[in-house]
Amino acid sequence: MYTRENADKFIAERKYLLNEQYRLRYHLMSDFGWMNDPNGFIYYNGEYHLFYQHYPYQPVWGPMHWGHAVSHDLIEWKHLPVSLAPDQQYDRDGCFSGSAIERDGKLYVMYTGHLVTGPDMNHDYSQNQNIAVSEDGIRFEKLACNPVIGPEQIPAGLSQKDFRDPKVFERDGVYYIVLGSNDGQGSGLILLYRSNDLISWSFVGEIARSDGKLGDNWECPDLFELEGRDVLIMSPQRMPAQGEDYQNLHSTTYMIGHLDTALGKFQYDRYEPVDYGFDFYAPQTTIDDKGRRIVMAWMETWETEIPTQLGHYWAGAMTMPREIVLQGNELWFKPIDEMKAYRRNGYEQSDILLNGMQEIETDGDCYELEVVFRADEAEEFGLNLRVHGEEATVISYRPSDGLLRFNRDKAGIGLGGERRTKVELNEGLLKLQIFVDRSSVEIFIQGGKKVMTGRIYPGPQSLGIQAYAKGSCSMVSFKKWDIK
Ligand code: FRU
Repeated sequence: MYTRENADKFIAERKYLLNEQYRLRYHLMSDFGWMNDPNGFIYYNGEYHLFYQHYPYQPVWGPMHWGHAVSHDLIEWKHLPVSLAPDQQYDRDGCFSGSAIERDGKLYVMYTGHLVTGPDMNHDYSQNQNIAVSEDGIRFEKLACNPVIGPEQIPAGLSQKDFRDPKVFERDGVYYIVLGSNDGQGSGLILLYRSNDLISWSFVGEIARSDGKLGDNWECPDLFELEGRDVLIMSPQRMPAQGEDYQNLHSTTYMIGHLDTALGKFQYDRYEPVDYGFDFYAPQTTIDDKGRRIVMAWMETWETEIPTQLGHYWAGAMTMPREIVLQGNELWFKPIDEMKAYRRNGYEQSDILLNGMQEIETDGDCYELEVVFRADEAEEFGLNLRVHGEEATVISYRPSDGLLRFNRDKAGIGLGGERRTKVELNEGLLKLQIFVDRSSVEIFIQGGKKVMTGRIYPGPQSLGIQAYAKGSCSMVSFKKWDIK
C-alpha cells in the first residue's frame, strides 16, 4: 500500500545508501529514488515550493508520488515530507504532473490521477484531474469530491485517455487550466477548462493543435503572461527533428501569442525550442514576489539509461532556475541573480591569444565560467571541460557554419552525442556562461539567447579545463568561480 508515511519512512531508512559520486551540489534532486517533472512550482508564504514526480522506492519510474522541497533563493533546497501518494481509487496508479495556486491563503495543488485499466499499462489507462489542499504548505488533503474533472468531460473526437498535467492560472477572477492531450490520430493538442471555484470545471476549447510536425501528444503545458503577451510552453512527444532543432526523442517548445479566453483559442505564428541541448523536459514556470517569471525543468531524457540508476539509488535532477525575459519576439533564458551569491575563489584572465591548446590553470567539477571569445581568423575554437586523459566535454564554435557544438562523446560514461545550434557572433564576439555541477552542464549563449543543457558522467579525476583554437583567435576574458 502506497502512503505518504511509508514513503517518508522508506527514504529516511535508506538514505545512507546513496552514492554521492554524481550528486549535484547546487541543483535539486530527490532525497532518494526517482525524480521526473517539476510540479506545483509556486512562491507561497515567503518561500519557493517545488514539487516533483517521484518514485521513492527505486531509481526508476513507478507509481508516482509528489516529492516536495522549499527554498528561499531557488538554489538551496530543503526536502519536506512526500506530499501526495497514489492512495485513492481515482489515482491508484499514480499522482501525475500538475501545478499549484494560492486561494484564500491556502495552497491548492491540481494533479492528474492515473489509472491502469487493462493488461497493457502503456495503452490501457485512463486519466482524471484532482485537487489537494494545504493550510500550512506541508500537509495536503485530497478533496472528497475528486476527481474534479473526469474523462467524460473530454470532448468527443479526441483521445479519451491522454488528458493530463493541468497548469492552473487565474485571469480576471476566473480560474483556468491548460491540459495536454492529442486527437487520437497523431497530433498533440491543448485543452482549456474554466472554473469559478477550482472545483466545478467546464470545457472552453481546444486552444492549439499540432500542425503535423509538432509531435503526437503534448505534455505539461504552461500558459502565462509576459509583458502583455501570452506564452505557451509545452513538451511535444516524438516530435521529428527540424534541422539541428528537436533532436531529442521528446522536445520542449514555446509559442508567443494571444489567448482568447472567450473563444478558447491561442493565436501564435511560430514556435521555438526552449533548450538546445540533450536533457531538458517538462518545464514549469511560476511568478515570484519580484515579478520574475522563473522556469525549471527536468534535466533528463525519457527512455534512456541514466548511469546513476545502477547502484547509486537515485536518478533525475532539475535544471537551474532560469529567468524568462521577453526580448523582442523571443524568449531569452538567464541564470537568476541569486546564483552570484554562491561564487567562490574567483579566477580571471584576459586577452589570451589562442593558437592550439592551452591548459587553464584552474580546475574543478562544480563551477561557473564566463568566457568571451573573439573569433578573429580561427577555423574553430572552444573549451574542453572535465578533462583527464582522453576524457573531455567539448564546447566549440566554427565561424564558417556558425554552429555552436556541445559534444559529450568523450565526456565519460553514459550517453554521448552532439547537439548543435546556430549562433551569430556579436561584433565578432561569442559570450558563453557555463555552469558545471558534477554531472551537469548548462551553457547560456550570448547572454541567454539560447541555452544548451546536458548531463555528463566523467570520472572523478576529470577536472581539467582547456581552451583551444584551430588557427588563431583571442579569449578576451576568462572568468571562473567555484560554486559554493
Ligand atoms: C512528462 C510526463 C507527464 C506525466 C508524468 C508522469 O514527463 O509523462 O505527462 O504526468 O510525466 O510521471
